Amino acid sequence: MTELRYVNLTEDLAPQCAALERAAFPHADPDDLLSEEDIRAYARVFPEGFFVVLDGDRVVGQGAGIFLDFDFDHPQHSITEITGEHQCGNHDPDGDWYYGTDIVVHPDYRRRGIGRELYRLRKDLVRRYRKRGIIAGGYMPGFADHKHEMSAEEYVAKVSAGELYDPTLTFQLENGFEIRGVLADYLRDPEIDNYAALIVWENPDL
Ligand SMILES: CC(C)(COP(=O)(O)OP(=O)(O)OC[C@H]1O[C@@H](n2cnc3c(N)ncnc32)[C@H](O)[C@@H]1OP(=O)(O)O)[C@@H](O)C(=O)NCCC(=O)NCCS
Repeated sequence: MTELRYVNLTEDLAPQCAALERAAFPHADPDDLLSEEDIRAYARVFPEGFFVVLDGDRVVGQGAGIFLDFDFDHPQHSITEITGEHQCGNHDPDGDWYYGTDIVVHPDYRRRGIGRELYRLRKDLVRRYRKRGIIAGGYMPGFADHKHEMSAEEYVAKVSAGELYDPTLTFQLENGFEIRGVLADYLRDPEIDNYAALIVWENPDL
C-alpha cells in the first residue's frame, strides 16, 4: 500500500465516491445515499467540507458535511430534509454547525485509524471557522440484531453506557461525540427500521 493522501473533493472523484457509498450501506434506499450527481454538486457547493482518502488513485474513504443552523428544540429530521438538494443544497456558509452527511471507509481499510483522521480533519475545519461543533445522524447498524428485544432508545442508551458495542456508534463515541436522542425515519433502511442516533460534538474552543 502506498501512503494514503487526504484531499478535498474534486468532480473527477465523484464516480468512485458514489460507488464506495453504495457498498458501505447495502441495505439503505439508494435514493437516500449520495449519488454521483449529488457528489458532483458537492464539489461545486462546498468541497472544503468533503474530505476524500486516496490510496494511489483509488478512493478508500470519505467524510462529507455542510454548514447549517440547527434547532435543538425540534431535533427530528431526515437526512434528505435537512441537507436539501443533492444533500448539500442547504449549505449556509454562516450556519453555526458542521452537519456530517457521510463518513465511510472501504471495508479493506477499516480499523487502522482512517475514520479517526477524517474526524480530525472535520474538527479542524470546525475550529478554523469557529463553528459550534459537529452534528450528524449516526448510523447504528448493530441495532438490526437487537431490534426485536428493545427499542431504538434503549439500544442507544446501552451503546452509550458501553454495555453494547455498535461498529459505527461506538466509534463515534470514541471520537468525542455524545448521543442526544434517536431520529425516527432518518434514512430508509429496513434492517434498522430507519433509525439513526442524533450525535453531537461541541467545539471546545467556544
Ligand atoms: C465507521 C467507519 C467510518 C470507521 O472507519 P475506520 O477507518 O474503521 O475507523 P478507525 O480505524 O478510526 O476506528 C475504528 C476502530 O478501529 C480501532 N482502530 C483504529 N486503528 C487501529 C489499529 N491500528 N489497530 C487496531 N484497531 C484500530 C479504533 O479504536 C476503533 O475501535 P472501535 O471499533 O472500538 O471504535 C467505518 O467502519 C465504516 O465505513 N462503516 C460503514 C459506514 C458507516 O457506518 N458510516 C457511518 C455513518 S454515520
